[in-house]
Amino acid sequence: MSALTARDSASAPPRLGVLISGRGSNLKALIDAIDDGRLDATIAVVLSNKADAPGLDHARLAGIATVVLSHQAFASREEYDRAVVQELKGRRVGLVCLAGFMRLLSPLFVDAFPDRILNIHPSLLPNYPGLHPQQQALDDHATVSGATVHVVNKDLDAGPVVLQREVPVIPGDTADTLAARILAVEHRLYPDAVRLVLERRR
Ligand code: GAR
Repeated sequence: MSALTARDSASAPPRLGVLISGRGSNLKALIDAIDDGRLDATIAVVLSNKADAPGLDHARLAGIATVVLSHQAFASREEYDRAVVQELKGRRVGLVCLAGFMRLLSPLFVDAFPDRILNIHPSLLPNYPGLHPQQQALDDHATVSGATVHVVNKDLDAGPVVLQREVPVIPGDTADTLAARILAVEHRLYPDAVRLVLERRR
């Protein structure tokens, strides 16, 4: 049995660590999928690099442990990531889900959870990585964009794709209207992708 699916007992589901920086609607989608029985997992901790991230309230309302680690309190990216890894390992997290966690991960972090970090990104990667992917799609006159869940490796938004879904770009779209249409798809895609990854490794 891999570390990812290692269970504390026969009945204990895989333990997720969800990292956020803001609104946390994808975190909420994961919480709902677990509550509805669509995803057999438990969220061991929600960690934010921002104390005022609204998404923390989704965790608190659901009775999930929260941790705030401000990156500003650390001298370097590596020191910050070491502290995050320590939190996650201390809570026996088997799969890390980045859900609007707007920080680059250092190699130290990626090596601590090899092939066990997922990210959701609002474009059809490899198209439009990095910041403002919806605006990038509009600037490119794309007629289709979408959402991607991928395994995180050491290159930005470049790890193996787990699942993707297309979303049409509609004439007159702004970055905000396109983002909202993609976000609705993300909320179904992320739980599906986490389930797929957990099933593959069972
Ligand atoms: C989502 O659209 C997510 O795909 C994106 O940030 C938003 C977070 O929303 N992530 C990235 O752009 C990562 N490169 P949420 O906080 O409501 O889940």
